[in-house]
Amino acid sequence: MDVALEKRQVERAYEFYAPVYDLIFDWIFAPGRQQAIAQLGLKPPETVLEVGIGTGLNLPLYPAACRLTGIDLSQEMLDKAVERAQKLAMPNVTLKVMDATSMDFADNEFDSAIATYTISAVPDPVAVLREMRRVVKPGGVIVLLNHWRSERRVPGRVEDLVAPLCTRLGWKSNLSMKPLLAQVGLTPELIAKVNLFNGWRLVKCVNRK
Ligand SMILES: C[S@@+](CC[C@H](N)C(=O)[O-])C[C@H]1O[C@@H](n2cnc3c(N)ncnc32)[C@H](O)[C@@H]1O
Repeated sequence: MDVALEKRQVERAYEFYAPVYDLIFDWIFAPGRQQAIAQLGLKPPETVLEVGIGTGLNLPLYPAACRLTGIDLSQEMLDKAVERAQKLAMPNVTLKVMDATSMDFADNEFDSAIATYTISAVPDPVAVLREMRRVVKPGGVIVLLNHWRSERRVPGRVEDLVAPLCTRLGWKSNLSMKPLLAQVGLTPELIAKVNLFNGWRLVKCVNRK
């Protein structure tokens, strides 16, 4: 069952979540974050793009000398990330409101890219992943951390059933990982189960162009 998520719906949802996002989502999502950033294997001064950076909960996890660009569709979420970057006094961080489906970056501009808990919250995951591939250099790492549709029959069906409700709340509960990656030409080099009940999967791909 495919339930479409609209851009305006996402903007409205995250405008609403921005003031409370860290209170509600930080503790649930925290364990996977460290592992996801570690998988980038950043060697400063490499450049990294974070897609859908939200309130910037990953900011403290980056090596200080790496050059980070973070983008997000939601001004309200990004405002929180700007505050956090200022508090952490991170000099090499650039934050921009931008739709990840059509990024304002050159081909091969970044050494690597990451999206944590974002790919199921974007209206067009195929377009976002194609853009991530375009802006990351050949051989660069792309890391995705997300809840994906279960490959087991019963949990997968449950995720399909709750999809219309989740879509209203701003994310897709039943995004299938393998067909999506195949569609954009990404092959996972690593898939690791993370977080509470192993309910999220960390995926590391190398951008082979
Ligand atoms: C669940 S939040 C995850 C935030 C952050 N990555 C984290 O780990 O906490 C999803 C984020 O994706 C952003 N987003 C959704 N669609 C987007 C798009 N097309 N372009 C850029 N950001 C988008 C939302 O505004 C929101 O901040």
